[in-house]
Amino acid sequence: MTTAMTSAALFDLTGRTALVTGASSGLGWRFAKVLAANGANVGIAARRTDRLAALKAEIEADGGRACAVALDVTDLSSIAPAFDAVEAAFGPVDILVSNAGVAVEAMLADMTAEQWRKVLDTDLDGVFFTGQEAIRRMSRSGGGSIINIASAIAFHVSKTLGAYAVAKAGVVQLTKAMALETASAGIRVNAICPGYIETEINRDFFATEAGRTMIQRHVPMKRLGDIGDLDGTLLLLASKAGSFITGASIVVDGGLVL
Ligand SMILES: NC(=O)c1ccc[n+]([C@@H]2O[C@H](COP(=O)([O-])OP(=O)(O)OC[C@H]3O[C@@H](n4cnc5c(N)ncnc54)[C@H](OP(=O)(O)O)[C@@H]3O)[C@@H](O)[C@H]2O)c1
Repeated sequence: MTTAMTSAALFDLTGRTALVTGASSGLGWRFAKVLAANGANVGIAARRTDRLAALKAEIEADGGRACAVALDVTDLSSIAPAFDAVEAAFGPVDILVSNAGVAVEAMLADMTAEQWRKVLDTDLDGVFFTGQEAIRRMSRSGGGSIINIASAIAFHVSKTLGAYAVAKAGVVQLTKAMALETASAGIRVNAICPGYIETEINRDFFATEAGRTMIQRHVPMKRLGDIGDLDGTLLLLASKAGSFITGASIVVDGGLVL
């Protein structure tokens, strides 16, 4: 039996290189800060590079290291260069957080082809092609951890969010398929499925009467998730603490899917 480790050693990411997609706001911004605070050198990627510059400054002010890279996950030609840039700064990526995502609200009968494609291209194809690039590189460099950000809606449906629910359910299956095919190469692939988490884009809605009522009716814990509620799951999946976990989709939703 191995020696018992302290929690600090178990979750430590010193010397690791992470790449977080969709780091320019919301959950991705937080994920990048949490990984950096626990020792990882972090590549931060998104389309809004002005916001990435602000995040890089915040991480560095806290004593961490970050490298900002432009990435549009729907533009396949931008994926390999983003990995190249992070590798050039910090060495091979061994943690990928595939977080970039969009939601478009429309009833299925009214949804345009453009709306459907935008959601599927970003939320499912984007996770596939970014993960595929990571798998190819991690297979050569000795392994790593891929963390796909799905959603609790992968396990239920909601009117006007049909395309989003289909894409996120696809991410859960993709996570299992990737995990199965890469375990022997030392790569672990898991998903986090958040429920309602307060971020800058939904804060105003959840402060309204309708938003508050939704939480009271649908979330058994009767509260909105705080952005920090995902920190522990992220660190578990990224670090040695999760070394035997692969193919899992961890729901973090205050009981929403129940
Ligand atoms: N907040 C929640 O309650 C919640 C619940 C369940 C799941 N999620 C999932 O969590 C992830 C983050 O959501 P969030 O709430 O933090 O939303 P957000 O604040 O809107 O962040 C979305 C991020 O994705 C990036 N992005 C969008 N399209 C992209 C593209 N084509 N290429 C690269 N980056 C792209 C955006 O950056 P740019 O616009 O700068 O490219 C932004 O940084 C998403 O996958 C979302 O589905 C969120």
